[in-house]
Amino acid sequence: MIQSSVSEGVATVTVDRPDKLNALNYAVLSVLLSAFEKLRDDPTVRAVILTGAGEKAFIAGADIAELASLEPEQARANSEKGQELTRLIETLGKPVIAAINGFALGGGCELALACTIRIAAEGARIGTPEVKLGLICGYGGTQRLPRLIGRGRAQELLLTGEPVDAQEAFRIGLVNRVVRKESLLDEARAIAGKFASAGPLAVRYALTAVDTGLDRTLEQGLATEAELFSECFRTRDMREGTSAFLEKRPPKFTGQ
Ligand code: COA
Repeated sequence: MIQSSVSEGVATVTVDRPDKLNALNYAVLSVLLSAFEKLRDDPTVRAVILTGAGEKAFIAGADIAELASLEPEQARANSEKGQELTRLIETLGKPVIAAINGFALGGGCELALACTIRIAAEGARIGTPEVKLGLICGYGGTQRLPRLIGRGRAQELLLTGEPVDAQEAFRIGLVNRVVRKESLLDEARAIAGKFASAGPLAVRYALTAVDTGLDRTLEQGLATEAELFSECFRTRDMREGTSAFLEKRPPKFTGQ
C-alpha cells in the first residue's frame, strides 16, 4: 500500500496503489498515519518526500468505491482520520515535500496542501472535484486551499471542481515550482537535502512559528517568533552553526 525508505536523512514515502491511481482507502490512510508517526519520532529523518507510484497519479483522491456506501457517522470518522493525517504531516516538525507526479485530486490535493511545499511535474493536474460527486473536501481542503491561494481562487477550484494544470497551479501559488517529469524526484531530493543539512531544531522552530502564527494575530505571532528565537540560543546547534560560520567550516548539527 505504501513504500517508505530513508537515505541521507531524507525519507521518501510512496503511496503504492497504482491500479487505483493511488486512491486513499481507509487502510492506506492508516498505514500513512503510522508511517508519518514513525518518521516524526525518528531523529535521523530530517525531511520527507511524499509521492505516488506509477506514471499517472500522485493520489487521485479518497477511494470513491469506499466512500459511496458510508453513513454520515462513518463519513465523519473518515474525515477525521484524513484530517488527523493531514495535521500530522503539517505539524511533523520536519519539512514534507509533495512531489506531485500526476493527478492530485480530492484527498490527494488535500494531502499535498498539508505538505510544507509542493513541486509538480509537467503534466500534473491538481484539483478538488468533490462537488462533482455531491461532496465537499473532508481532509482539510476547504480550510487550507483558501489559506494558500486566497479565498476567490480557492472557491473557484472548490465550486467548479475543475483541476488546474501544473503551470496554472504555479501561477496561482498552489505549487512552488514545476519541473520535468523525469527530474521530479531528483529536484525534490535536492530541496530535501538542503532542508536536511540545516539545523534540525531551527527548522522545527521555523515550521512551528509559521504554522501557529498564521492562525493568530500579528502580535501573537511575533511573540511566538521571539520565544522560539530565544529557544534557539539554548541549543548546541545554534552555537555550532554560528561558530562554524566564524571559523569558515561547515557546521555539524546534532539536533541538540
Ligand atoms: N477512488 C477509487 N478509485 C479510483 C479513484 C478514486 N478516487 N480514482 C481512480 N480510481 C480507479 C478507477 O475507478 C479505475 O479503476 P478500474 O480500473 O478498476 O476501473 C482506475 O483507478 C483507473 O482510473 P480511470 O478512471 O480508468 O483513469 P482515467 O485516466 O480514465 O481517469 C481520473 C483518471 C483521475 C480523471 C479519474 O480516475 C477520476 O476522475 N478519478 C476520481 C477523481 C476524484 O473525483 N477524486 C476525488 C474523490 S473524493
